[in-house]
Amino acid sequence: MMCQLVTGGAGFIGSCYVLQARKRGVRVINLDKLTYAGNMDNLDALRGDGGHVFVCGDIGNAELVAHLLDSYRPDAVVNFAAESHVDRSIMDPEAFVRTNVLGTSTLLRVVKDWWHTLPPQTAAAFRFLHISTDEVYGALQPGDEPFAETTPYSPNSPYSASKAAADHLVHAFHETYGLPTLVTNCSNNYGPRQFPEKLIPLMILNALEQKALPVYGKGANIRDWLHVEDHCAAVARVLEAGQPGRKYNIGGHAERANLDVVRAVCAILDDMAPSSQGSYARLITFVADRPGHDFRYAIDSTRITEELGWKPKHDLDSGLLETVRWYLDNAAWVEHVRSGAYRQWLVRNYAGRA
Ligand code: NAD
Ligand code: TYD
Repeated sequence: MMCQLVTGGAGFIGSCYVLQARKRGVRVINLDKLTYAGNMDNLDALRGDGGHVFVCGDIGNAELVAHLLDSYRPDAVVNFAAESHVDRSIMDPEAFVRTNVLGTSTLLRVVKDWWHTLPPQTAAAFRFLHISTDEVYGALQPGDEPFAETTPYSPNSPYSASKAAADHLVHAFHETYGLPTLVTNCSNNYGPRQFPEKLIPLMILNALEQKALPVYGKGANIRDWLHVEDHCAAVARVLEAGQPGRKYNIGGHAERANLDVVRAVCAILDDMAPSSQGSYARLITFVADRPGHDFRYAIDSTRITEELGWKPKHDLDSGLLETVRWYLDNAAWVEHVRSGAYRQWLVRNYAGRA
């Protein structure tokens, strides 16, 4: 049976990947620090599953990572662990440097040292796959060509700068030590179990509470949306057939202005959970913009499609319907994540923007 050390596997995307990997019969060692974004409820379906070993810990803990590698001898390490929210990176950039840069650097070093001890055939088959973002490429204007793998890095937020630094370290470990690495740069994800600090779940949950729907600036910024299950299928495909040392862009071919996304969420809610007070769109409130707000992201995913045969299966319209349905049907999950800490974040991020 294949075994993978997955980091950040209690978060939004990592948990989806772990659930898919278990369906494929992969044994998963899941190393997650359980920050505010890590949530064991995301892994509920794996209770009692002996093929999933959960370890609460930090990717920057060299001793722990070395112990896990020695004990479980994984065929691959898949690194989802990160601080992932741009607005939080604006408030506390150092937390992003600690996990995304230093944590990834420690993880790489410990994996490299262990990998050097493997017999040649096992070492050749081993993979270190690092999950990154399209945000490392910076911002596009309307009419610009989408990001290709050759687009120079130009990150603008502390989050994207820390992810860019990590990508460079991964590349350096491939060039310098020969570690068989892969990097994926994906566009904005949406789907079940996304922590409600991100645009789509924030809007769904605020609307259901009849709270303002805070759209930054004019809502004209554009993101390319990809369903989380399509992202995780792409990661699995890159792991299976990607060429070590190479990077792969992953996108949804679904560019939308933020205001259009928020309006679409409102329209779905009007249908699924009508409010006696009228359309949820009346709650849309334009608030102070995010500093350094990247205008547009768009991905050219020709490489992964042509080389590896991956394509997204979900389209945004039906994916959004299914996502809103999931939040309506999973009230217990929602209640658990709405902890005191989450409420404090809402006050911290939105109080000054009105
Ligand atoms: P998330 O914030 O939901 O989850 C991150 C997970 O990592 C959490 O479970 C958290 O507890 C864990 N973690 C954080 N610091 C850790 C540490 N030091 N050691 C171990 N675990 C730690 O994030 P997500 O949205 O699932 O994103 C996962 C990855 O995908 C990130 O690397 C992110 O940069 C990347 N990505 C996200 C998106 C998106 O739209 N969400 C798009 C492209 C790429
Ligand atoms: P987000 O989900 O934070 O992802 P990212 O910043 O990584 O793209 O934000 C998506 C877009 O939505 C981004 O352009 C910022 C915007 N946004 C709002 O307009 N209001 C909000 O409350 C949030 C969280 C985001």
